[in-house]
Amino acid sequence: MSDTQHTQEHWHRRVLENKGGLFAVLSVAAIAVGSMVELVPMFTVDYAPEEVVGIHPYTPLEVAGRDIYVREGCYLCHSQWVRPFRSETLRYGTWSRAEEYVYDRPFQLGSRRIGPDLHRVGGKYNNAWHYEHMRNPRSTSPGSIMPNYPWLYEWSYDPADVAASVNTLATLGHPYADDVLADIPGAIRAQADDVVADLKASNIEVEPDKEIVAVIAYLQRLGLDGRAKVAAAEGGAK
Ligand code: HEC
Repeated sequence: MSDTQHTQEHWHRRVLENKGGLFAVLSVAAIAVGSMVELVPMFTVDYAPEEVVGIHPYTPLEVAGRDIYVREGCYLCHSQWVRPFRSETLRYGTWSRAEEYVYDRPFQLGSRRIGPDLHRVGGKYNNAWHYEHMRNPRSTSPGSIMPNYPWLYEWSYDPADVAASVNTLATLGHPYADDVLADIPGAIRAQADDVVADLKASNIEVEPDKEIVAVIAYLQRLGLDGRAKVAAAEGGAK
């Protein structure tokens, strides 16, 4: 820096910075304008998710499973976000599109991958695999460091809790059919019975109200809508 720059006062300092009171008022005004520009749209825009073609809200049983997923902190080890890189799409399948998260409240993107990404795990294994894996991950995946979740096989989800979650999501604009909302326990039961029947075919006996049934329903749903949508758009290609 030259001497002249040191001695010459910049106009900014003379007119603004030297006048503490005026400078404070102008700063507040500038911040206020900036704040309004940020804040006003937040309150005027309609934030209900648009109905995205081909992406459906989670069924009540899947919502139950999702609530358990959040409760157990599965997101601490698992991401749900397949990035558009070859290494990822080869391993997990087609990359995750933004609209696939429209019914994820709160989203489960996750930030760590101690275990594999789960965004496309739906349909990758059968229900019996998930049943065994969640009970003891090492039974299906030797050397796995994933914890056992034995309580999922003892604890039951509460249909009233699930109904509360589903009704909240409906209030936020998730498009549930009226007949589903009218009988949430019935919808839960119907899907749970399907999972139980499928497990029975693999000689696994489980009651339909056990938490593991909801977790399996949720895991089997992950990424299916998005994958079907991409397949349709690409004319049947994967
Ligand atoms: C301590 C970290 C950790 C936690 C917590 C954890 N997992 Fe895992 N998970 C792993 C690891 C590591 C693997 C890979 C080895 C295996 O298959 O067990 C895995 C694998 C999986 C797989 C198979 C994925 C695939 O594509 O093969 C599923 C499904 C899964 N976990 C579900 C869950 C669910 C549901 C929860 C919460 C109830 C959970 N995990 C909690 C570490 C974790």
